Order: sequence, then C-alpha cells, then structure tokens
Amino acid sequence: ISLVVLISGSGSNLRALLEACSSPEFPARVVAVGADNEADGLAHAEEYGIPYFLVDPRAFHSREEWGRELLAQITQWTPDLVVSAGFMRILPADVVARLTPRLINTHPALLPRYPGAHAVRDALADGATVTGATVHIIDEGVDTGPIIRQHAVDIDPADTEHTLHERIKTVERDMLVATVRDIATGQINLEELSA
Ligand code: GRF
Repeated sequence: ISLVVLISGSGSNLRALLEACSSPEFPARVVAVGADNEADGLAHAEEYGIPYFLVDPRAFHSREEWGRELLAQITQWTPDLVVSAGFMRILPADVVARLTPRLINTHPALLPRYPGAHAVRDALADGATVTGATVHIIDEGVDTGPIIRQHAVDIDPADTEHTLHERIKTVERDMLVATVRDIATGQINLEELSA
C-alpha cells in the first residue's frame, strides 16, 4: 500500500517507516512526506529520495484554506493510508472527513489519558507511573478517534520530559511500523474499527 506521512518535527517515526519500507518484503511504500514547516524530519525524506511537500499555515489566510491546500497535496498521491507521525496540527473537519478512516495518528500517551500537544509533560506532571503510546484513527476530535493499538511505558522517578519521551518513542515507532504492516496485510481493518 502507498503511504503519505505527515510530520512537524524530528521525524523519528517517519524514519522508522522509511527504513521498514525500504525492505522489499514490507507491504507498504512511502510515496510522499508532508510537513507544516521546514521540519528537521524532511532530511529523512531527502535521504530516501522521497518527494515532500510543505504546507505552512502561516502562508494562508484561514485554516480552511490551509486545509484545502494540504488535502490537495495529499490526495494528488492517491495514498491508501495517511499517517500523521508527529504532525502537530489539528486537521480541519472536512479534511478528516475526506481521508478517515485511512488516516491514523501516533500519540505519546495511553489515550484517552493525556490527549493534546503536551502528553508526555502532562503524564509526568500528573505523577503517573505508567504512560505509553497509542496509534488511533483520526476523527473530528483531538486524539479521540478509535484506538488501533497501544503500548505501555513505565515512568522512572528520575525521568525528565525528554528522557521519558525518548523512551516512549522507541516503543512508538516499532508499534507504528507494525500497525502499518498489519493494515497493509488486512490484519487490521480500519473500516471495521471506525464503523
Ligand atoms: C512523537 O512522539 C509523536 O507521537 C508526538 O510527537 C513526537 C514526534 O516525534 N506527537 P518525531 O517527529 O516522529 O521524532
């Protein structure tokens, strides 16, 4: 299956997907990468020779206009699956409606706990002893779509936001690759999950 991957930051999840997709037996290919800024992670797309597009919200007069352009840039690749991997923007409802349920996100917490942009910091601040990562279908809400897979990660009392997030990311990227593989092979049925 063909993937479009959306990023905003370092792209370690994207890199894990690019590495997996470069082996012939892996049943998915990244056909394009999209970003909302000049993300460091775009270097991974360059390294793997994958085309990328940039749709910066600051270049548009409204969220709706930005969303329309982002949707056009995504759909021109006719992807079978869109993967938000550290994409730090909320997609407008009409963009979600057009792409879901073949639109998944990875989130560094055990949803429904700690939704939003500061999940790792929130878990630490809450004094939680366990958190983790979640792959879910994106729906119209923020981190509220049907959960596909989750994996727990223990919090160490000495953890900082950075050390905890890095440990979550090691689990997260492996889970994301495995989830994409299972969607590609039909072991996971997104239409059923989102029905
Ligand atoms: C990931 O933990 C993702 O879940 C969160 O931000 C992080 C992005 O990391 N939204 P990267 O850009 O994939 O390295």
